[in-house]
Amino acid sequence: MGRITIKDVAREADVSISTVSHVINDTRFVDPVTKGHVQDALKKLGYRPNNVARSLRSGVTQTIGLIVPDASNLFFAEIARKIENYGFQQGYSVILGNSDNNPAKEIQYIHTLLAKSVDGVIFISAGAELRNFKQFADSNIPVVVADRVVPIELADVVLVDNEQGGYDATRYLIELGHTHIGCITGPNDLSPSMQRFDGYKRALKEAGIPFRLERVVTGDFRVQGGSEAMDRLLQAPEKPSAVFVLNDMMAIGAMTSAHRAGLSIPADLSIIGFDDIELASAVSPTLTTVAQPIDEMARYATDLLIQRLNGHRKDENQRIILKTALIKRNSTARRKP
Ligand code: RIB
Repeated sequence: MGRITIKDVAREADVSISTVSHVINDTRFVDPVTKGHVQDALKKLGYRPNNVARSLRSGVTQTIGLIVPDASNLFFAEIARKIENYGFQQGYSVILGNSDNNPAKEIQYIHTLLAKSVDGVIFISAGAELRNFKQFADSNIPVVVADRVVPIELADVVLVDNEQGGYDATRYLIELGHTHIGCITGPNDLSPSMQRFDGYKRALKEAGIPFRLERVVTGDFRVQGGSEAMDRLLQAPEKPSAVFVLNDMMAIGAMTSAHRAGLSIPADLSIIGFDDIELASAVSPTLTTVAQPIDEMARYATDLLIQRLNGHRKDENQRIILKTALIKRNSTARRKP
């Protein structure tokens, strides 16, 4: 037998199709006896609503697309779970696409989500591929850009003040007496990394500490990349007494490298990260870091999109810049005299 239809249920319960529809959608009172017959028939036949047919009628699929650059990175895993949760609470299913930091894969997901007629998309870019984002512009579906700047004003945007966060992290290390402060950046084409790096340079300059390029290594925002970058910093003739790592996944990798080199954290080397993923408070020593307001970002991104979808917002695109917070834990200490 093919898919059970509303017509089959009506025949089984010996009622009209509209009565079955009212029971399924709870759109008007149906006397309890009749309602019971319909519910028995639904259960007996194993009826499942045909969402595709419903969305063809309404033009709404009640589905949001979410594209993230790296689902294995706990920052994106945490923000994706919160977006899914907030969307589900408001009656939306969320389809997750992982672009793996690969613009070619990212464009595939954009096409897939558009083909599935999602109602809107929350988009975290894999890099500066402007052409990818323009696919959304041509599709006219509402988009919210989160976390990374995309250089077109065609969407609501939810970001954090990365430059201030980078400044606060570096300033804190300077207050602990560190002057030889290394830096492990993320990929140089990503706005969060560039902005945090700007904050690092601003704090050094303000304190009169010379900026030295040889104290900076580029990482990839991943654990292994952080470990390899720290290896390079520790091979330099002059060792840093502190390192600012531009995300927690790399900071955890950097810690393993320091331990391999026989260094004690923070006695020999202070390390500070960025994101405040759940793991930051579980590693040993616990990681001092700059917390991103992950829950607030997820809430803003989801609400801005759904308000647009529900027609509650027809206003100009909003640009939300949220604040970070310095979380002092055990991976940083005063520089040894
Ligand atoms: O950890 C992944 C990084 O990439 C985070 O800092 C987040 O801001 C994203 O841009």
